Amino acid sequence: MVHLLGAIDMRWIPILLTLLSTPALVNAVESGSTVAWTYETLQQVRKGNAENGNKLAGSCAGCHGVRGEGTNVEIRDDESLPAIPAIAGQNPYYMYKQLRDYANDDRSHDSMSGIAKGLSEQDAADLAAWFSSLALPIQKDEGKDFSAAQKMISTGDGKRILPPCSVCHGANGQGDKIDIPSLAGQRADYFEKTLLAYRDGQRHNDIYSRMRLIAKQLSVDEIKALSIYYQQLK
Ligand code: HEC
Ligand code: HEC
Repeated sequence: MVHLLGAIDMRWIPILLTLLSTPALVNAVESGSTVAWTYETLQQVRKGNAENGNKLAGSCAGCHGVRGEGTNVEIRDDESLPAIPAIAGQNPYYMYKQLRDYANDDRSHDSMSGIAKGLSEQDAADLAAWFSSLALPIQKDEGKDFSAAQKMISTGDGKRILPPCSVCHGANGQGDKIDIPSLAGQRADYFEKTLLAYRDGQRHNDIYSRMRLIAKQLSVDEIKALSIYYQQLK
């Protein structure tokens, strides 16, 4: 299990074990995903063909943008365009897992479930190789006070059994092996929406409920503050 938690600071092991073994939380601890990180699966993602991924990516551009940059919610006259996550520069193992989770109905979304069902495991590995090779454009957000978000990220909150986000996602939100996503530069609207979805259980594809347990303890204001902080990180 420890290796699934990523390469983390050993000081946090006891608190993470408490998080995973608290009786009141056991019911919420389901596997959440049918992706198994076998040697073959890891090799398939590692050897993903970015060139082929580039060819397949044409069908993603209409929503995720030609460079995988995503968008925040946009209000145009009386039409509102939804929040689309940035996928450029994402950890390829994380991205592969999400595409398989949508295909296996372990994560659901009106558009993505159907799209992922049309992709083979090899397509998912190739798309992950392509998008992970692209750089994410930086969205500057100067003059904001990020101190509350920075504190949560670097020290967490022992009273609420909340480990710092950085033990898993890294000090700069860069993600970690195996399947810990990069958060730096992610669109704030999507970030907020997906944390609220973990919080109410609508998103439940996180192995060992790691994100559901954390999101349940965050307030809406904390989630908002974290989302705007991570969006401007590079
Ligand atoms: C019709 C618009 C649309 C198209 C086309 C589309 N996506 Fe998505 N995608 C979305 C939305 C919206 C989400 C967020 C869904 C959610 O909240 O679960 C998403 C989520 C994702 C995620 C999860 C991101 C994360 O950070 O967890 C991945 C990976 C992804 N899409 C990859 C792709 C790929 C690869 C293609 C092309 C083969 C594609 N998408 C085509 C709209 C689209
Ligand atoms: C114990 C390790 C761990 C800690 C601590 C942790 N995360 Fe995560 N986080 C993960 C994993 C693993 C995933 C991917 C789960 C999945 O496959 O859906 C994830 C996913 C996410 C996502 C979804 C990303 C996307 O593109 O959809 C967000 C947002 C997020 N975490 C934010 C946070 C924040 C904010 C904190 C601190 C309050 C935090 N996480 C603390 C392990 C962790």
